Amino acid sequence: MHILLTGGCGFIGSNFVRLVLRERSDYSLTNLDVLTYSGNLENLADIEGDPRYRFVKGDINDRDLVNRLVAECDAVVHMAAESHVDRSIMDGRPFVLTNVLGTQTLLDAVRALRGKVKFLHVSTDEVYGDLPLDQPQVKFTETTPYAPSSPYSASKAASDLLVRAYQHTFGIPAIITNCSNNFGPYQFPEKVIPLFVTNLIEGKKVPLYGDGRNVRDWLHVEDHCEALLTVLEKADFTSGGTYNIGGNNERSNLDLTHAILKIMGKDESFIEPVTDRLGHDRRYAIDARKIEKELGWRPTRSAWPGALEQTVRWYVEHPDWWQRVKSGAYRDYYEQQYVKRR
Ligand code: NAD
Ligand code: TYD
Repeated sequence: MHILLTGGCGFIGSNFVRLVLRERSDYSLTNLDVLTYSGNLENLADIEGDPRYRFVKGDINDRDLVNRLVAECDAVVHMAAESHVDRSIMDGRPFVLTNVLGTQTLLDAVRALRGKVKFLHVSTDEVYGDLPLDQPQVKFTETTPYAPSSPYSASKAASDLLVRAYQHTFGIPAIITNCSNNFGPYQFPEKVIPLFVTNLIEGKKVPLYGDGRNVRDWLHVEDHCEALLTVLEKADFTSGGTYNIGGNNERSNLDLTHAILKIMGKDESFIEPVTDRLGHDRRYAIDARKIEKELGWRPTRSAWPGALEQTVRWYVEHPDWWQRVKSGAYRDYYEQQYVKRR
C-alpha cells in the first residue's frame, strides 16, 4: 500500500509515519506538508533516508500537485490542518483556507480517480461542541449532532460535511474519524501538556484558563495512530461512515495540572490562573464502542499516570527539540537540509 499522508510533519503525522514504517514493512508513504509554523521536519529527521518514505513540500490547495500525488497512491490519510483553537480565535481565515478548501481540493482529486483511492479524513471530537459537566454518563457518539463552538472546530466540521457530501453524491470511498485530545512526543508546545511541561522545566508558571474545571478526554498519540491504521485496513470504505476514537480518560484541566506538577516535583504556586478562553468548551467525552465492536481497536498506551509520566519524561529528555521549537530555530532546518543543497 502506498499512502499519501498530508500534514506528516506535525505532531500526529510524524508519529503516524514512524508507526507505519515500523509496523508495516510492505507500506510506503509520501508526506505532503507545506511546513506551517507547526510543521517541523526535525520530527522525522531520523527517517529521512528511508527508501519507503518521501517528503514533498507543498500545499494541499495546490491542485496540480495534489492531483498528481493522489493519482500515485492507494489511500490518502488527510491530517494537514490548522489545529490550534486559540489561534483560530485570533484569526479564523487560515483555518477556512486549509481545513475547508484544502480538504475540498483533495476530495476533487480523489473523486476524479473513481473509487481507486481510499480517503481517510482525520477529524476531531470538537465538531460535536461540548457536554455539560454535571452529566458524566453523556458522551459523544457517531450520531451526536454537530455543534462546533470555535472557528477551528467549525472549519473541521465543515470539512467533515464536505467528506460526507462527496461520499453521498459521488460515491468516493471515505471514512471520517473523530478523535479526542492527543498527548505524547513531538506535540507543538502551544498545546496544554507540552506548554505546561516546558514552562515548568524553564522555571516559569503555567497559565490555567478560567476555573480549570474544563474536561478533556486524553488519548496517547500512538493509540490514535494505531486506530487510524486499523480503520484504513479494516473499515468498509465503500459504505463510508464515521468512527469516534477516544481514550476513556477524562480529566479536568485542574487535575491534569496537578498531575504534571506532581510528576515534576513542583507545588501549586506554579499555577497562574488567567482569563478564560473565549467560548471555552466545557467538556469533551468520547463513546468509542463502535470502533471497538466493529474493528476490534481499543487504547493500550493511554493509561495514567504511566502514559503521562512517560510523556513528561520525553520532553525532559529532549530539551533540544522543544527549545528549538520555542525559539523558532527549527525553521532553519529546512533551509539547511533542502534549500542550501539545491
Ligand atoms: P499539527 O498542527 O501538529 O500539524 C499540522 C500539520 O499540517 C503541520 O505539519 C503543518 O505544516 C501541516 N499543514 C498545515 N496546513 C497545510 C497545508 N495547507 N498544506 C499542507 N500541509 C499543511 O496538528 P496535529 O495535532 O498533528 O493534528 C493533525 C490532525 O489531527 C488535524 O487535522 C487535527 O484537526 C486532527 N486532530 C488533532 C487532535 C490533537 O489532539 N492534536 C485531536 C483530534 C484530531
Ligand atoms: P489545548 O491543548 O489547546 O486543546 P483543545 O483546546 O483543543 O482541547 O487545550 C486543552 C485544555 O487546556 C483546554 O480546556 C484549554 C486549556 N488550556 C489552558 O488552561 N491553558 C493553556 O495555556 C492552554 C494552551 C490550554
